Amino acid sequence: MHLAFWNQRCPVRRKEFCQRAETTRAACHSLARTLGLLRLLAKNQSWALRVQPVAERNQIPSAFLRYRPIVDDWEAFVEALRRPLPVCVWTNTLRTTPAQVKAALEAEGLQPEPLAWRRDAFRLPPDSQPGNRLAYVLGHYHVQEEVSLLPVPLLDPQPGERILDLCAAPGGKTAQIAVQMQNRGTIVANDRNPLRLRQLSGTIERLGLLNVTTTLHDGADFPLNSGPFDRVLVDVPCSCEGNFRKDQKVADAFAGAPELCGQQTALLHRAVMLCRPGGRIVYATCTFAPEENELVVDTVLRRWGTALRLLPARIEGFRGSPGLTEWNGRRLHPSLERTLRVWPHLNDTGGFFVAVLERQA
Ligand SMILES: C[S@@+](CC[C@H](N)C(=O)[O-])C[C@H]1O[C@@H](n2cnc3c(N)ncnc32)[C@H](O)[C@@H]1O
Repeated sequence: MHLAFWNQRCPVRRKEFCQRAETTRAACHSLARTLGLLRLLAKNQSWALRVQPVAERNQIPSAFLRYRPIVDDWEAFVEALRRPLPVCVWTNTLRTTPAQVKAALEAEGLQPEPLAWRRDAFRLPPDSQPGNRLAYVLGHYHVQEEVSLLPVPLLDPQPGERILDLCAAPGGKTAQIAVQMQNRGTIVANDRNPLRLRQLSGTIERLGLLNVTTTLHDGADFPLNSGPFDRVLVDVPCSCEGNFRKDQKVADAFAGAPELCGQQTALLHRAVMLCRPGGRIVYATCTFAPEENELVVDTVLRRWGTALRLLPARIEGFRGSPGLTEWNGRRLHPSLERTLRVWPHLNDTGGFFVAVLERQA
């Protein structure tokens, strides 16, 4: 193209033209490099604006400083937040055994450590990428954060029951429920995000789960005539502060925003309405924010009075803190100490909150 241009239109000699073209190319490269550097700088700067000022002061985002009075060991908490998060996988016992999953991972050069509190699940180093292995594709295990394994044993679904997973996508907990139910009974896995529901369908298929049906609906307005259910899981959308070890951007989110808390309260309230008397409801978030945790449960407890009570949310072999019964001078329902708060340093995990409720017969 340069040559054609030189032949037809340019008055300068060929050598001179090539020299000019070379100079232009060099200038373009230099400009591209500068633009690349500027882009990198801008990226780093926005990161710096977001994290560095606080990192210099306290090594953690300023948004977390308000938790200082409620964390048992602040130094350990800060130190845990600085470490990358280990990866966790759990065995699909419908297809294989924990021993075979362990062997498959070891054959890949990994060193799976069984969890102290759950022997069919394994901890792996942060960069192991277990989702890229053949045994994963074959549906022998699922990759999920360790704290995300807490709600299902607390929900305790039984084979043959009707279960509602109100905010189910991308489906890790739905899958755990189905495996625990031995593919028997019915699970309605609902979410209001169609793209995430598609991911859930992929997970169900890969793991060979047969007792799950999906619905696309606003959970806060889920049809009451679809119930009652024996158990309802409400794993609500939240500010995700507990995911900080995986994604530092979560500290930008406005934890405890009234609109978000209103949505969480509406979802939990609907879950209680959809549960049969004598049935169980598990409410979960992956945030530290009391406004999205204890305060939501407190509101719903007070609304339902004696028709609803909290059961102890404790898991043997897993360390947790009791829920708060007071926050910012506001006294909460005393039974909230039965809820479970998980701080990252307690078990080297992400952060989490679980409440187990029983609808009274
Ligand atoms: C924390 S995630 C759920 C994770 C899921 N339980 C799992 O274990 O894979 C919260 C989910 O709630 C969904 N969601 C948000 N608002 C909702 C609503 N009003 N009704 C139903 N689902 C909602 C989001 O699309 C998101 O998939």
